Amino acid sequence: MLQLDYTNVLDNAVGTAHGIPKVAFEKAESSSKHLIADLETARAAGKLGFADLPFDDKAVEAVTQFAKEHAYSNIVVLGIGGSALGPMALDSALAAPNASKRLTVLDNIDPDFIHDSLETVDPEDALVIVIAKSGVTAETMSTFAYVRKWMSNALGESRARERFAVVTDPEKGDLLQIARDENYPTFVIPPNVGGRFSVLTPVGTLPAALLGFDIQQLMEGAKRSVIQCRKPFLQNPALAAAFIQFVLERERGKKMLVLFPYSQSLWKFAFWFKQLWGESLGKKLDRRGREVYYGQTPTAALGVTDQHSQLQLFIEGPNDKSFMFWGVKEFRHTLPIEHSFSKYDSMGYLNGKTMADLFKAEQKATEIALTEAGRPNATVWVERINADSLGDLIMFSQYLTAYAGELYDINAFDQPGVEYGKKLTFAMMGRAGFSEYNRKIEDIQKRERAVIR
Ligand code: PA5
Repeated sequence: MLQLDYTNVLDNAVGTAHGIPKVAFEKAESSSKHLIADLETARAAGKLGFADLPFDDKAVEAVTQFAKEHAYSNIVVLGIGGSALGPMALDSALAAPNASKRLTVLDNIDPDFIHDSLETVDPEDALVIVIAKSGVTAETMSTFAYVRKWMSNALGESRARERFAVVTDPEKGDLLQIARDENYPTFVIPPNVGGRFSVLTPVGTLPAALLGFDIQQLMEGAKRSVIQCRKPFLQNPALAAAFIQFVLERERGKKMLVLFPYSQSLWKFAFWFKQLWGESLGKKLDRRGREVYYGQTPTAALGVTDQHSQLQLFIEGPNDKSFMFWGVKEFRHTLPIEHSFSKYDSMGYLNGKTMADLFKAEQKATEIALTEAGRPNATVWVERINADSLGDLIMFSQYLTAYAGELYDINAFDQPGVEYGKKLTFAMMGRAGFSEYNRKIEDIQKRERAVIR
């Protein structure tokens, strides 16, 4: 069961200017009751789709069955944002180092990246999953077009057609229509689940099942988390973490949230979380239509690697950040350090210890250094990295974000800024129906460029 240690966000740890008094947590126990009730009401009304996903046994069964019937060594995902970061996070956490199956995610349209990535994939032994909730995203549709041709050049038209599956909205979007025309197996993202909240739909579960990960366990962890995320404040890490970030951002000037996994396996999970936090909470308008320009900028650091990169800034630079460590209690391997160089000071003290001991000591040292410097930090602990704890961590993160949305009183589930950028791209590329944006684009293009040569 996931735990939240918030000792180092208290004012007695980091000072009154940067910390939160204990009494505020006691008060939040009763003042936050309506937040739990509000999310429950939203869930009952079908507006919190992500929370229902772990209980959808049919969807799990469908991807599991499909994976049994489609054993390919290369799983290629075409998608971007919420349609790519989830599969990448699961793969980075759960893939065995010597796995016979490999995930390639084309989540960028840099032509060199696409070309070079495909060079490493054997089309004879590959299945491509095209993922787009909207079914129209320019990056994904263009990559699909390119990869479709690449596959038919390699295998011929009819065999190529058998190597695609689609994950999209059940009712709308061109991708759905193309899948029907081409007879691709199609999996749905429920309409009430937004892109960045969709990792427990076939967006994440289909690639995961094809890679051989334990989807059942993933959902078990997520189910347990849903129960925990509905509990009262002091038994509810997601709600308490949302409260902490909200207070630190609004009242203590912590405009940035540093996600700090002490786990290589969770590194890509931090990228998934960055999108979830940034896109959900970065909003111009609140629910009443007032201009608020809310948001806390998420950024990521990796323990221990970033101790030798960003940590100096974190400890002595501007005190404008809050830190969320993700710690792992038990590693799969401890790796004893045994050697015959004990006459060297830099080696002797390590003899007989394990790599896990050193890793944990460094995490503790970073926590202490930040705390002494008055930098509020909390730690989310998981027992170990596996499908179950990943499910727990995913659901915790989604509820944390939803609770933060309630505290800010904003819509955490839309992304008008992203949608606007998509429209400008469509207009520039000549897509019908978007010409109204052309005049604005032309005006901006006419501006004299300020360039230094
Ligand atoms: O969270 C979101 O809705 C977005 O970030 C989307 O995931 C992203 O824009 C990709 O959209 P789509 O899945 O429609 O291609």
